[in-house]
Amino acid sequence: MPETMSTNLLRHAGERLLSLALLLSLTLGLSACGGGATATPTDLANPVAVALAATNDRINLGQQIFTDANLSEPRGTPCAACHQATMGFAGNHGGRNGVAVGSLPGSIGSRNAMSNSYLGLIPTPLSFVTVDGVTEAVGGLFWDGRAESAELQALGPLLNPLEMNNTSRKSVVDKIAQSRYAAQFRQVFGADIFTDTDAAFTSIGVAIAAFERARLQPFSSKYDAMVRGQATLSPTEARGMALFMDPAKGNCAGCHLMNPTSGRPEDSAFSEFTYYATGIPRNPAIPKNADPAFYDLGLCGPDRTPPTLPSSVAPGVTISHFCGQFRMPTLRNVAERPAFMHNGFFKNLTEVVRFYATRNSDPVRWYGQAVSNDLPAQYLGNIEVVKAPFNRAANAGPALTEAEIADIVAFLHTLSDAPVAP
Ligand code: HEC
Ligand code: HEC
Repeated sequence: MPETMSTNLLRHAGERLLSLALLLSLTLGLSACGGGATATPTDLANPVAVALAATNDRINLGQQIFTDANLSEPRGTPCAACHQATMGFAGNHGGRNGVAVGSLPGSIGSRNAMSNSYLGLIPTPLSFVTVDGVTEAVGGLFWDGRAESAELQALGPLLNPLEMNNTSRKSVVDKIAQSRYAAQFRQVFGADIFTDTDAAFTSIGVAIAAFERARLQPFSSKYDAMVRGQATLSPTEARGMALFMDPAKGNCAGCHLMNPTSGRPEDSAFSEFTYYATGIPRNPAIPKNADPAFYDLGLCGPDRTPPTLPSSVAPGVTISHFCGQFRMPTLRNVAERPAFMHNGFFKNLTEVVRFYATRNSDPVRWYGQAVSNDLPAQYLGNIEVVKAPFNRAANAGPALTEAEIADIVAFLHTLSDAPVAP
């Protein structure tokens, strides 16, 4: 998609976020009065202070829920088990196959845990945008965009048998009603909140999303310091950034959008949040992949029902065009993650960049054959071949040398934030 379009998209996402924040603080201000939150007379004279105090309550509550090991069946798998602060808020609960290990002993999922930091940069819900006759899918949460907001996303893992494995909304709400933060939950969401299971369950998502947005986007990396004019990249890192941005070399920034000169770290999301089939090799360690007829098709399922296309799509575009596409994640904190891509095929960042450099020149190295091995024949044509380095002629050799790959990896390490809790 042309750069201006993407920038606009991101800017709109930002605006929407701002108005949401405003709306939230207004709602919070109201519920602080109605819901019996304690406010001193001085605070009441200052509605902004009341709203902020209430926001902090909600954020702290969200953090406690996020790290509560009692909320899984059996206990021991909080959200934080798969979204660890020391792993760029991803990680697979100790799983070494590239995909998440659930709470139930022996349960192994079919996707790599994504980072849940910097959610505020992602446009939601999933939509389809047509520019210059090309229709692209943009935004939404999860690798396949099936969650419409952070509030709703947070409710999925609690009931997913392969993740936290609770049997019902009520069983989750009962656990929270018994928790050490139950009083705080009542204070934030109303004294009677636990009598309405659906309202209480939905409130869990509201608290977690508040926590994620407030605490998990610190913009504290070396790259951010450089953007603010407070740090200088080393020669290797600077070469890596140039290769990352060079349309004739890595062209990474052609998709993983950035703006190092705006002075504003939030202008560098390191993702366009659009969807591509990039031809990631099949991960044989995923249990479902033991069936040669099974394929994870991202936007076409099986973990979601295929989305309905709007009437504004380019002529001839049907949903099958999107089968095999997955949403591009941000590369912020990527160097801390233990596995990469939707199926966790890669465990090593250097290997990821080698894949970009040689997918076209040496497919046998990745697939054991000349064509991608993780899409059924009818969708092979969906694989990206337009944007560099994916447009490279098969006989043109690798897009990057080993030294250049090392420079890009060094640059990717500058995207790691300073360590934070939890
Ligand atoms: C057992 C591991 C596991 C647990 C526990 C878990 N997650 Fe995840 N998380 C994942 C996986 C795997 C994905 C990607 C799933 C997919 O795309 O289908 C994911 C995706 C996400 C995303 C989407 C990020 C994006 O860029 O779209 C968010 C947000 C998230 N999780 C938050 C949470 C919250 C909040 C909890 C607790 C209520 C939680 N997770 C519990 C494994 C886990
Ligand atoms: C055509 C758009 C495009 C280009 C160009 C591109 N990427 Fe990506 N990138 C994606 C998409 C889409 C994904 C997710 C693919 C999936 O998991 O199926 C991704 C995923 C990644 C990941 C894994 C992130 C994670 O959390 O698992 C890394 C690392 C990465 N890209 C680095 C790069 C680098 C380095 C370059 C340049 C050499 C680059 N990308 C160029 C679209 C692109």
